[in-house]
Amino acid sequence: MIDQLYRKAVLTVSGQKFVEDLVRSRAWSVAQRFVAGEDAASALQAVRELEGDGILGNLDLLGEFVASPEKANEFAEKVLSLLDQANAAGIPPYVSIKLSSVGQGQTVNGEDLGLTNARRIVGRAKQYGGFVCLDMEDHPRVDLTLAQFRTLVNEFGNQFVGTVLQSYLYRSEADLAALQDLHPNLRIVKGAYLEPESVAMPDKADVDASYRRLVYAQMKAGNYVNVATHDESIIEDVKHFVLAHGISRDMFEFQMLYGIRRDLQKELAQQGYRVRAYIPYGRDWYAYFSRRIAERPANVMFVLRGMLKG
Ligand code: FDA
Repeated sequence: MIDQLYRKAVLTVSGQKFVEDLVRSRAWSVAQRFVAGEDAASALQAVRELEGDGILGNLDLLGEFVASPEKANEFAEKVLSLLDQANAAGIPPYVSIKLSSVGQGQTVNGEDLGLTNARRIVGRAKQYGGFVCLDMEDHPRVDLTLAQFRTLVNEFGNQFVGTVLQSYLYRSEADLAALQDLHPNLRIVKGAYLEPESVAMPDKADVDASYRRLVYAQMKAGNYVNVATHDESIIEDVKHFVLAHGISRDMFEFQMLYGIRRDLQKELAQQGYRVRAYIPYGRDWYAYFSRRIAERPANVMFVLRGMLKG
């Protein structure tokens, strides 16, 4: 409950325009703990560095809730260019996109622009043997995101596109069951948005229990799971679960965020698990950064100290 109140406070305050302006102007050096840089070259450099520790990359051009079709198309072009650059650098292109950044909710030529652009992106990734994960955003977008995921799997196959379920949402277990005919590649996360209690569990213990249930159900169904968490007790439980149920290490991976628990990422990679870091980059870092601060009270002090240093 306290976690929920803390998250609500941070996300409410960070939504104020004057706070945004202040943090944007003073906190870039602090944000770089969580963001690999401003351009694709910095993100690809981060992938190379992680490779040295046996950690794979998942590239994310920052941006969300793009308001016009022009901006959405521009954003999609940047993601296509990222795929080209990764491929040219010999890096298997694994990217995450937020459908709201490529036009979800805007209809152009009779189709949702988010789907049109996602189709171009998944098509290009497939051409390079890469992969696209559709990030999950706030709850009003879940139905459409899952429907668009279904369309993309039917068009390209489940080896090239995946999506995310959030364990804080009451609906996620039913969503997981409803997706099983696709043998989907799913990333399981706890959920990072400010959601009403009518849709999301307020207690952390419930969110954690739901997290385990989702991961185990996906594993038992024989489908690929991206166990995306920094929660060590969950990670330990998953290690035991896979041993007890004979789940092959080829059927799951651990995923964490760039700049968070690098020690644990390295340790898991050394133990022979597949580990992938989510590497965000780009100028539109504020919303992503706010969610990271909202996840952990100690991060507020880290930001304030960094801002005071200038
Ligand atoms: P929890 O919050 O319980 O934290 C466990 C421990 O991890 C903490 O005690 C602390 O040590 C460490 N930790 C967690 N967050 C930290 C932070 N910000 N700074 C420092 N330490 C921290 N969400 C979403 O809604 N949609 C999405 O598509 C995604 N995608 C995604 C991809 C990947 C690869 C990851 C790892 C996470 C996401 N998320 C997400 C975010 C997710 O929903 C969640 O908010 C964070 O992962 C934090 O939750 P944990 O599972 O780490 O557990």
